[in-house]
Amino acid sequence: MKSTQNIFKVNIATEEHIAFADELCKLYEESAKQRGTGIAKRDPEYIKGKILQQKAIIAVTPDNQLAGFCYIETWEGKNYVANSGLIVKEEFRHHGLAKKIKKFVFDYTKKKIPNAKIFGITTSLAVMKLNSDLGYKPVTFSELTQDDAFWTGCRSCVNYDVLTRTQRKNCLCTGMLFDPKEEKKKSFEGILKIEKKIPAKLKTPKAQRIKIVKSAGRSKANKK
Ligand SMILES: CC(C)(COP(=O)(O)OP(=O)(O)OC[C@H]1O[C@@H](n2cnc3c(N)ncnc32)[C@H](O)[C@@H]1OP(=O)(O)O)[C@@H](O)C(=O)NCCC(=O)NCCS
Repeated sequence: MKSTQNIFKVNIATEEHIAFADELCKLYEESAKQRGTGIAKRDPEYIKGKILQQKAIIAVTPDNQLAGFCYIETWEGKNYVANSGLIVKEEFRHHGLAKKIKKFVFDYTKKKIPNAKIFGITTSLAVMKLNSDLGYKPVTFSELTQDDAFWTGCRSCVNYDVLTRTQRKNCLCTGMLFDPKEEKKKSFEGILKIEKKIPAKLKTPKAQRIKIVKSAGRSKANKK
C-alpha cells in the first residue's frame, strides 16, 4: 500500500476548526449507520467543547479540508483517559492516516496526563490493530472506568440493550487498556537485565578500585 499519510497535517485542533463540528457529527452518524453499530452519537457542541479545551486532534488536507479526527475524554478524575471518536473520511482511508492520528493523540495524552490509564472500547479490527501496536491489551470491562458518565455515552449505540442486560460486564465491543505502570515496569526490568550482564565484582566503583590496587601490587612484585 502506498502511504500518502505525509500529505496530511495532524495537530491539536484550534478555534479555526470549530467550523468542522457539524460535518464531524454527520460523519459519525453515517459511519455508525454503515457499520450497523458504532461510535456513540455526538453533538456538535460537545465537539466544539473538546476543541476549545485542546482535547481534540485533527488531520487536514493541504488545502485545509477535514480528513480525520479524534478526541480525549477523562474519567474518574484523571485516572482513566479514552482516546475516542477516531474517524477518517472515507476517501482518505487505507493510507495510514488513522495510525498517524492515533499515535499523535496517544503521545499527547501520555505527556498531558502521564499517570492515566488509556483505554477504549471498539468493534473495529483496524482500531484493535492500532491499539495493540501502541501497547494496549485486551481486558474485561471490569478493568475500565466504572464512571457512569462514560457508559451512558453508549446509549446511542444499537447494542446498548446488550450492555444493560449484562450489567455492563460485556457487550459487542472489546475493551482495550494501556497501563502506564506496566510500561514503567517493563523498562525497569530492561535496566535490570542490562545490569545482570555486568560481572558482580565490577559493579561498584569500590570493587573496581580494589581490583586496580591489587593488580598494581602484583605487577610491582613481579618486577622485583
Ligand atoms: C477505522 C478507521 C479510523 C481506519 O482509518 P484508516 O486511515 O483507513 O486506517 P489506517 O490506514 O491507518 O490503518 C490502520 C490499520 O488498520 C488496518 N485497517 C484499516 N481499515 C481496516 C478494515 N476496514 N478492516 C481491517 N483492518 C483495517 C490497516 O491495514 C492498518 O493495519 P496495519 O498497520 O497492520 O497495516 C476508518 O476506517 C474509519 O474512520 N472508520 C469509521 C469510524 C470508525 O469505525 N471508528 C472507530 C470507532 S472505535
